[in-house]
Formats: sequence, structure tokens, C-alpha cells
Amino acid sequence: MCGIVGYTGKDQAAPILLDGLARLEYRGYDSAGLAVRDGDALAEVVKATGKLYHLADKTDQGRSLPGCCGIGHTRWATHGDPSLVNAHPHVSGNCSGSGSGQVESDVVGVHNGIIENFTELKEKLLRHGYAFYSDTDTEVVVKLVDYYYKKYKIGPVDAITRTMVRVRGSYALALMFKDYPGEIFAARKDSPLIIGTAEEASFLASDVPAILKYTRQVYYIDNLQVARVAPGSVKFYDLNGDEVTLPLTEITWDAAAAEKGGYEHFMLKEIHEQPQAVRDTLNSLIHESRIDLTAAGLTDDMLRSLAQIDIVACGSAWHVGMAAQYVIEDLAKLPVRVELASEFRYRNIPMPENTLVIVISQSGETADSLAALRVAKERDAKTLAVVNVVGSTIAREADHVLYTLAGPEIAVATTKAYSAQLVAMDALAVQTAYVRGAVSQEQYGHFIEELSAIPDKIKRVLEDKERLQWFSSKIANAHDIFFIGRGLDYAISLEGSLKMKEISYIHSEAYAAGELKHGTISLIERNTLVIGVLTQSELFEKTISNMVECKSRGAYLMGVTTNGNFIVEDSVNFTVYIPKTDEHFVSSLAVVPLQLLGYYTSVNRGLDVDKPRNLAKSVTVE
Ligand code: AGP
Repeated sequence: MCGIVGYTGKDQAAPILLDGLARLEYRGYDSAGLAVRDGDALAEVVKATGKLYHLADKTDQGRSLPGCCGIGHTRWATHGDPSLVNAHPHVSGNCSGSGSGQVESDVVGVHNGIIENFTELKEKLLRHGYAFYSDTDTEVVVKLVDYYYKKYKIGPVDAITRTMVRVRGSYALALMFKDYPGEIFAARKDSPLIIGTAEEASFLASDVPAILKYTRQVYYIDNLQVARVAPGSVKFYDLNGDEVTLPLTEITWDAAAAEKGGYEHFMLKEIHEQPQAVRDTLNSLIHESRIDLTAAGLTDDMLRSLAQIDIVACGSAWHVGMAAQYVIEDLAKLPVRVELASEFRYRNIPMPENTLVIVISQSGETADSLAALRVAKERDAKTLAVVNVVGSTIAREADHVLYTLAGPEIAVATTKAYSAQLVAMDALAVQTAYVRGAVSQEQYGHFIEELSAIPDKIKRVLEDKERLQWFSSKIANAHDIFFIGRGLDYAISLEGSLKMKEISYIHSEAYAAGELKHGTISLIERNTLVIGVLTQSELFEKTISNMVECKSRGAYLMGVTTNGNFIVEDSVNFTVYIPKTDEHFVSSLAVVPLQLLGYYTSVNRGLDVDKPRNLAKSVTVE
């Protein structure tokens, strides 16, 4: 996610802003920028791509930017590639290519979040004579504030509240107005923002670490509220422009805990960010009850013409492909192959005309997946990248790209990016099925409704985390753990097993339940843990039978199944229930208990959850 900082007070702003941005680096970013005002002078904007030290060097550690009021930003690209012109701050006027210099603009601003209807707003502003220099949704929202500010002439708070009414999406905004020197205006919906005060100084930040050094007294601005920030004092307003009062809160965290939002590890934080990551990804694909993949360049005609889909990936991304195979084949009646990238790149796979090769990758830099993409292109296949990092190599080299909006993922073990990929592939499956006439209009609407309900259902699964924490303490000394399932449940078992072994170092295998008796069942001993994923009603009884075969050989059974399926408890020792949902999409819910089980088991074993031994977040070598 992007990082926002702001300062107004009696000290020089730029060094404070740089220090705050440095404490937000963990949020992930690809560019950064500052806007600082010296008294009544116009704001001076400086931007830099890459690491924060480039911006610090460009501003002589902030010394070349005099002034006591300013805002700063680290950008995690969502709309528009990582570049100088797309870096924040953005201005209501025009902006030179370098993105730096004094700005003849009434409004200068930074933003964290995603404006879903930025295209229609941009068209409105173009009709009113505005010109745009960047590809970002942020420039649109800054110019929209300017539009209302000039049109109604009632001041910044009014201009901002009118903008908030018009905008759809998530935002944390920090804005400076030429006519209001020394003041910063802020607004928030769904993206984090806090405002701190100290003697004759005020601070804004996306997260606590950025201001903890200066103050522990903060206001948590609520959704759809506006703040008017002056040195040492803050006023808050609701959407009607009426002043409201907020309580001042004392921050008790230490700096390390603060970076993780109060969670013990990034992995647990990211597991809990899954509802938002899935919601943001779905919101980027579903508009007015229709799935729209045109932003990825996938037209309905193209989807109709497909003869086959080859999904190529590594690790958890490959597991997404395994799940997507079942969904696409069942809904769209389209042949799907799922290949490990490291194998695909060296196999001479026959590829019929009109094959779409989909490369799934969180980082967009995995060497095997990149090589596989290049092989697919050499074979003249159409290629689609499903990636989380905007502007990554795989994103740039594929013919088409569908971005997941999970935000930066810090823990080596993927969770929220995996879940975002899962729903992105589900949406692709539903749209492909619909345009090919394989599902009716009514079914299409049902699937979209079911997908849209996933984020809240993930939240409900997370409410059960204490039971998993308890159970993980019982298995912390296990030597072997088997995850089994059939169909989609097998695909989820693959991910559950990888989560367990990569962070707890306990040997684990995932098996298609029907395959156990062909050899592996010889490994089942007394108290061997067998975890069955039981969400597919047509296959449920067969998997239960396979689990009972293991139990009769001494195994201890855990089951993950949907609410109401209480019969499971007749056979299974420990059961985790997940909310009912269309069985094509239930993987998004079934995976969460398995993520939590792996996480808590690793914690119980006193291991480095976020940085497991031998592993890298992105495997950029063969
Ligand atoms: C998953 O928890 C692992 N970190 C690993 O398997 C990962 O999924 C794999 O390396 C692929 O990475 P990518 O999605 O960035 O291509």
C-alpha cells in the first residue's frame, strides 16, 4: 500500500517527512515524493523513483526544501506504471515531466487507496477543460477537489466533501491549498490515516510508525470525515461539513509492533488483510453487476475464441492454477492445463491455435514463470499475466495483464496475494463461461453475487482463529501431516500443505484423497495427522471414507467443511466450519483455516514466521 505523511509546525518539514516515509518503507513502494511550502510561497514538489534514499539525495536530506508545512508519499503502483510522472504528490494544474519544481496549482495532494470510478471522473473533468499528465487515479481526485473548490468557492472542506460524495473507492487523502498556507486538509474512506498532535505541531500518517518518534497523541479519523490540520490543532468535519469531535488516543505500541499494525508478524497481518485484498481485486473487475476484463485487454470476443487455457506458475501461484482449472472447466467447459513453470519451460508441449497461456505470479519476477512466459510467446500463444506488482517484468512482457490489488506482501509465505489471485481467476472463469454461453444470465448474476460476498465471509472465518491457535499447540511436534481432498478440495490441500511445511518445517504432503491407497497410506502411523478438506458436496463422502481408512490405521483427523455439515464430526476428531458459499468459490474460505494453522504452528515452534529458512519472497533465479 502507499504511505502518506504530513507535517505542519515550527520546524523544517522535509526532514520530518523523509523520516516518516522511511518508517513506512515496510509497506512496499516503487517511487516517492514531497511537497513543501515555505510560508505563503507556492508548494515545491520533488519526486524520485526507486528507493527513498534517491528522494533524500535529491533534496539534500530535505535541506533543499525549506518550509514548515508539507506532505510526503511512497507509492505502491495500482493505476499507472511506477514512474516519475505517476509518483505523488499530484497537482490540480499541469506538471512538468520531471514531476518536480514549484507548482502553480491551487491544490496539491497525495493519496493512498483505489478510486474505482476514476475513468468516468476523468472524462467529466476533461469535458470541463482539465488536462492530465499522469495515468493515476490520484491526479483525477486532486483535480476533482480543485474543480469543486473553484466552482462553489466555499473553501477546502466543502470542496473535499463534495468530492467524497462523488468518488467510489477507498482513499486516505492529504491536500494543501495555495490559499491556506500552513494548513493540511485530510479525508479518509477505508484506507488508514491517523493525525497526531504535539506542542505547536501536527502530523498525518498512514500508520503509527511514521509519527511515533514525535507524538503518541493521535486522532483516528473516521470514514467519510475531513480534517483541517494546523500547527498543534485539528478540526474534524462530517460529510455535511458539520464540525465533529474525535477523542485523542494515546499510542502504547513500540515501533516494531506498530509496523505490523499491532500484529505479531506480517503474515498474520496479511492473513487479516485478505478481506480487503479480495474486495479491492473484485471491485477492480466487477462494475454494475458485470465482470469487466477489458482493462486487462480480455475482450468477450477473445474469450469466446479460446480453444484451450494453459496456466503456468510456481508454488502457491501454481496452486491457484490448480483450483482455477476445476472452476474454468466446470463453468466454461473449456480445456485447461496447469503446468509448473519450471517444467513447462523445458517441455515441448503441443499448443493448439487459440491457446491462452496464463502466467500467475505475485512478484511478477519469478525466473521460471518469466521463462515460461517467454516460451509461450515464442510459440505464438496469447499470454495473460495475473500479477500483484504493477510494472513487474512478467506484467510488462505479457500480451495482457490482470492486476491483483492485494498491496505489497511482506511475509515470504503468501496469503493475501494468493487469495486475490484465486478470486481474479474465479472472475475470469465466470466471465469466460458467460460469454461462451455456458452459463445463463441468471447463473451469471448468482456467481457475481456469490463472489462479492466472499470478503465478508473470509472475515467470519477469521473470527474462528482462536480454535486454530489452540489446535496448533497440539500438533506443534508432529513429524508428518497429510492434507487430502478431491477436486477443488485437493487444490486447497496443496496450498494448506505448502503453508504448513514452508513456515513450520514439519514434513507435509497434499494428496488427491483417492490416490492415498496407491502407496502413500503406508506412511500413516498412530497419531499421524490427516487434514481433510470437505467442501465439495458431490465428493464429500468419498473423502470421508479415505479419511476413515487413515483413522483405522491410527491417524488423527481434522476436517474443514461448510457450516451445517455436522455429520463430519461422526468421523473426524477436530472440525473447522466455514460459511456456505457457491462451491466453485469456497476455496477462498477453506484456505484461511489452513493458513492460520500453519502460522500458529510455526509460532508455537518458535520459528521466524515472516522469513522462513532457505526461502526468498521472490525466486528470481532458476
Ligand atoms: C508461497 O508461500 C511461496 N512463497 C512460494 O511458493 C511462491 O508462491 C512462489 O515462489 C511463486 O512466487 P510468485 O507468485 O511471486 O511467482
